Amino acid sequence: MHNFRSYIVIFLLFPLILFAESGSKLWLRFPNVKNGISADKIISKSKNPTLEIAKKELMNYWRGQTVELRTEKSLKNLKEGYTIKSSSEKIIISAAKESGLLYGVYHILRLQQTKADINNLNITEKPSYDVRILNHWDNLDGTIERGYAGHSLWKWEDLPNKISPRYEEYARANASIGINSVVLNNVNASPNMLRTDYLQKVKVLADLFRPYGIKVYLSVNFSSPKVLGGLENSDPLNKNVQQWWKEKASEIYKLIPDFGGFLVKANSEGQPGPQDYGRTHADGANMMADMLKPYGGIVMWRAFVYSPSKEDRAKQAYLEFVPLDGKFRDNVIIQIKNGPVDFQPREAFNPLFGALKKTSEMVEFQITQEYLGQNNHLVYLAPLFKETLDSDTYSDGKGSTISKITDGTLRHAKLTAISAVANIGEDENWTGHLFAQANWYAFGRLAWNHELTSEQIADEWIKMTFTNDKNFLNPVKEMMLSSRETAVDYMMPLGLHHIFAGTHHYGPEPWGDYKGGRPDWSPVYYHKADANGIGFDRTKTGSNAVSQYFPPLNETYGNIKTCPENLLLWFHHVPWDYQMKDGKTLWEELCFKYDTGVKNVREYQKTWDKMQPYIDEQRFAEVQAKLKIQAKDAVWWKDACLLYFQTFSKLTIPYEIERSV
Ligand code: GCU
Repeated sequence: MHNFRSYIVIFLLFPLILFAESGSKLWLRFPNVKNGISADKIISKSKNPTLEIAKKELMNYWRGQTVELRTEKSLKNLKEGYTIKSSSEKIIISAAKESGLLYGVYHILRLQQTKADINNLNITEKPSYDVRILNHWDNLDGTIERGYAGHSLWKWEDLPNKISPRYEEYARANASIGINSVVLNNVNASPNMLRTDYLQKVKVLADLFRPYGIKVYLSVNFSSPKVLGGLENSDPLNKNVQQWWKEKASEIYKLIPDFGGFLVKANSEGQPGPQDYGRTHADGANMMADMLKPYGGIVMWRAFVYSPSKEDRAKQAYLEFVPLDGKFRDNVIIQIKNGPVDFQPREAFNPLFGALKKTSEMVEFQITQEYLGQNNHLVYLAPLFKETLDSDTYSDGKGSTISKITDGTLRHAKLTAISAVANIGEDENWTGHLFAQANWYAFGRLAWNHELTSEQIADEWIKMTFTNDKNFLNPVKEMMLSSRETAVDYMMPLGLHHIFAGTHHYGPEPWGDYKGGRPDWSPVYYHKADANGIGFDRTKTGSNAVSQYFPPLNETYGNIKTCPENLLLWFHHVPWDYQMKDGKTLWEELCFKYDTGVKNVREYQKTWDKMQPYIDEQRFAEVQAKLKIQAKDAVWWKDACLLYFQTFSKLTIPYEIERSV
C-alpha cells in the first residue's frame, strides 16, 4: 500500500519534476558530459582543490585540444587575471593564482559554448575590481528581504552538518562569471549572526566556496557587543566594546582564515550605529577596521543614510560623509548606492561619487528588482549598471567616470570593489524570473570587465542559456536591451521616482501620502504634482541638490533647458504646458511615454510568442506567462499614474493613446 502510494505521488509529480528542471542549470549548459577530454589531455604540474575543479570542468565539458594550466608568478600584476594562448593542438592558460586558471577554463568553455573561434587565441584578462561581491539580504529565519525567488539558499538549521548540493552549484555559477566574494546575510543584520554556533555554520560555507575562489563576508549589527556580549553599550570608543570586537575577529579568523570582512548598515532606517553614542561614521568604521586589519579584513561601510527631516533625502548622504573624507582607515571602503535615493528605475547618479577624494568608494547596485517589477517583469539591468559606471562626475575634470573613480584608475586605491544585492533564492530557476538570471550574469561580467557592453553580455548570456540560432538571438537580444527603458517608460518616465505602492514597492501609488508616518516615504513627496506642474525642484530655488554635483553638471542639471529630459522631473518642477524638445507639451510627453512603455511590452509578448520553436516548452511557457503579467502591470501603471496626474493637469489624455478601462 505504502509503495503504491509513493508511485502515485511520483506519477503526479512527474510533470513538475520535468518542469522544474529547465531553469536550474542557469547559463552553465555546456555540451554533453561524454564529450569532455581525457585526463591525459590536461597538463598541469601543481595540485590544489581549485585546479581539481578546473580539471573536472575540462574533463566533463571541453571538446577541443590539449589544455595546459600554468601557474606563473610573473603574472602577479594581473591579480586574478589570466592569459590564454592557443594553437590548433594546444591551449595554454597561465595565471598567478589558481583561481585565475579556473576563470581561464570558464573562459574557454564559454567560447566553445558560444561557438567562438578557439584557434590562435591570444587573450589577456585582468579584473576591473579586486572584490566582486554579491550582497545577500538573507535573514537567519530563511526569509529574504526584497527576495523574490523563494527562501534563502542557506539552510541555517541544517548547517553545519547537512550540506545542500546547491551551495556548490551556487559557488560554481559565481566562479564561472568571476564573482569572488559574498556577504551571506541581510544588511539589516541580526546580532546572532556573530554567535559562535552561527560562525561554525558560516565556516562550512566558507570551506565549500574557497576552492571556487570565493571569500565569505558578513553583515554585522553595530549593537552586537551590547546585545550579544551583554556589554553596557556598543560605543566604539569604549575599551570593552573594542575588546569585544577584537575577540570576535580573532574567533572568526580562527575558523575562517581568509574571512573577507564586514558590511555595515549603521544609523540608517532604524539600525544602530556610532551616532547613538555621539560618534561619527568614521569612529564606528575605523574601530571595526582596526580589529580586522591584522588579518587583512576590510570594512564596507554603507552610505545609505537618511532620516525624515526638512532636508531633501537625495542630499543627506553627501552632507554626512563629505566632512568625513580622509578620516577613514585604508581598509574601509564606503559602499554607495548607484543613486542618491534608492535603486529607482532611473536616478541621477549619486553625487558622493568623486566627492570623497581621500576615501575609497565602491558602487552598490541592486540585482533583485525591488523597484523593477520584482520577479514578474523582464528587465535586463546591464544598461542601468553601465549608465552609472559610465557617468562622468567631472570630479577631477572631464572623464572622471564612476568606473574610473572606483576601479583605481583615477585615484590609486589599495583595494577596489563593486557590489550588488543578489536576486538569488531557492526557486528551482534560482532567480524567480528566467531572465533575471541575466542580471546576476551581467553583474558578474561587468565586475570583471566594466568595459563590456550590455549587448556583448546579452549576446553571451542568450547563447549560453538558450541557443545560438540568430532567429532567436537577435529578437530576444533587442527585447532585453530595450527592456530597462521600457520599464522606466511605463513606471516613472522623465525622472519621476519613488511613486510605488506601500512598502512592498510593487505597483503604483502616486497618490500615497503617509501623513503621520514617514513623509519621506510618501510618493507625493517625490513627484510634487500640483496645478502648476510636476517634479522635484532640486535647483537653487528648491532643495539645491544640484549644488552637490561638480561643474559643469551643477549648471547642466540646474538649468531646465540643458537638463537631460530623462532626468527632468528629478531636478525640476516643470509646468504642464512646458515645451519639450520634440515639440510636445510636458503633459503630452508624459502620456506618450507611459503609452510607449505599454506598447513595448505588448511587442515583447509578440516577439516571445514567435520564439516557441527554438526552445523547450517549459521555459517558453514560463516566460510567456510572466510577460502577460508584465503587460497587465504596465497598463496598471499607465492608467494609475496618468489618471491621477490628470487631476492636477486637468488636461485631456491625447486621443492616440489607449483609453483606460
Ligand atoms: C531599501 C529597501 C530596504 C533595505 C534598504 C537598504 O530601502 O527597501 O528593504 O533594507 O534599502 O538598502 O538598507
